[in-house]
Amino acid sequence: MIIWAHRGASFEAPENTLAAFSRALDAGADGIELDVFAVDGERFVFHDRYLERLTATAGRLQDLTADQIRQLKVFGQQTIPTLRETLAHIAGRCLVNIELKGDVPAADLLSDVQYGIEHCQFSWSQLLVSSFNHHWLKRIKQQCPQLSIGALTTCCPLDYCEFAERLQATSVHIDVGFITPELVADGHQRGLKVYVFTVDEAHDIEELHALGVDGIFTNHPNHTKNVLAGLPT
Ligand code: G3P
Ligand code: MG
Repeated sequence: MIIWAHRGASFEAPENTLAAFSRALDAGADGIELDVFAVDGERFVFHDRYLERLTATAGRLQDLTADQIRQLKVFGQQTIPTLRETLAHIAGRCLVNIELKGDVPAADLLSDVQYGIEHCQFSWSQLLVSSFNHHWLKRIKQQCPQLSIGALTTCCPLDYCEFAERLQATSVHIDVGFITPELVADGHQRGLKVYVFTVDEAHDIEELHALGVDGIFTNHPNHTKNVLAGLPT
């Protein structure tokens, strides 16, 4: 089962920062999940639309300039990295799931992906772009069929994973609250990987392992690895 470090090892270091990504690599996570907004012509790795929870500043991320964003500190500690800085930092050492939180221009995203492949030791198969906005995913897939996409959902749709197959997604990413055996079986029947977010509790990890999901997003990859190590293969 793939262990995705959710926003990096965000239980141990400020989420979506280079420190959290280093901790995820130290923990031996198979992949790192991170969130991306496009602001002022740049792609920043950040989860929230508003700044209050994560920084000492109020207001919308979108209303700042790139220079102002570079001055901010997450939890007073770590700067907000760009997507390119993040790819250079991880340098092909694990999978990366780029979750689009804002409407990132496809050309800019693809240019960052190319940068990761040409300058940061990534292969195409190591990069996965996901979003709750399936229109954005469709546009990116049309412009770059080679890039793997993952369709996010926080529901169990009537036609199960059909939406993801229609998008030509590689994977379907489902909220742990809505996972069912039928949904997992349907995803697999359609040739999709089934990944589940966000999972830190041993009980959930055990249940998902028994359900045969392909990966989980966890804030605490060290702990999750330990729980999985104690389960039958
Ligand atoms: O990509 C999985 C998960 O990160 C989606 O929800 O809000 O944590 O970005 P969120
Ligand atoms: Mg996310």
